[in-house]
Amino acid sequence: MSVLTEDTIIVGYYDDAAEASRREAWQARLQPYLPQVKLVSLHSEEAQDAIAVTVWKPPHGVLASLPHLKGIISLGQGVDHVLADPSLPQTVPLVRLVDPDMSVALGHWVSLAVLSHIRKAADYRALRARREFRPLPQREAQSVKIGLYGVGAIGAEVARQLQALHFDVTGYVSAPRSDKAMRYCHGPDGFDYMLREMDIHICVMPLTDETRGCFNQSSFAKMKVGAYLINAGRGAHVVEDDLQQAISTGHLAGACLDVFVDEPLPPSHPFWENPHIEIWPHVAAQTNPNTAAQQVAKAIHAFATGQPAQNIVDRQKGY
Ligand code: GLV
Repeated sequence: MSVLTEDTIIVGYYDDAAEASRREAWQARLQPYLPQVKLVSLHSEEAQDAIAVTVWKPPHGVLASLPHLKGIISLGQGVDHVLADPSLPQTVPLVRLVDPDMSVALGHWVSLAVLSHIRKAADYRALRARREFRPLPQREAQSVKIGLYGVGAIGAEVARQLQALHFDVTGYVSAPRSDKAMRYCHGPDGFDYMLREMDIHICVMPLTDETRGCFNQSSFAKMKVGAYLINAGRGAHVVEDDLQQAISTGHLAGACLDVFVDEPLPPSHPFWENPHIEIWPHVAAQTNPNTAAQQVAKAIHAFATGQPAQNIVDRQKGY
């Protein structure tokens, strides 16, 4: 039996980690914007009254079981984790986060990865371990060609930061584009051009049927000897065995990865043993309830009042 006041807005919450404490943190952040909101676990009976859900990697089938659902909010900028559910209700709008603060954070992580690689941070750490105090050759930023795959809200900020560091950035985009920000490539020929010409390849694309597995044996073979891969998109953009092979043979210099096909990365995964692969536990841009709360509250309010929400995902495109 429901004991809700008329005003209460029940919103289901699920993430794949420490659910209760994170739910409480979100509840506290949403309260100032939308005092009527009550976040409940998707596993609770109350979730049956939910008109919206805020989720990260929800179990398949659970969203289809909510009879009053009017909207789904991804607690991340990516939505592949929601779209992967084969029983996802087709007509319920899905909203993703577009949080400038997260894009800035992601830009910082990518810049760190690029600079660590270019300025040989791992090599200097190895020298330090041997108490060796000597310089290694240094490359000037302008000579480093960076290929940025994906120039949406996140990629545009990543490009801005890399350009401010004086790197030469070319963007790979899904449709022809031209503006003053940078050079762009698109389509299969553009993709090949990027693979052949760039020194560092940075993936921040959404995971879709088109982009899944795009960094594979054939694409690594086209890359320059000594090329470097940075992945802050999704693990499944990369065929992991092929990457391991391309690095082990010395064709690629290495990789810095924040995302993996299986997360958490299993302890037996060969990447752990590869000294040329930097491993980060999917933290390049953590969702920040402080900055994202207002837009989550706006989306909930829109769903509750039957108004159009912002940042609705185009399910055909997958982002
Ligand atoms: C993180 O991976 C996100 O999708 O925001």
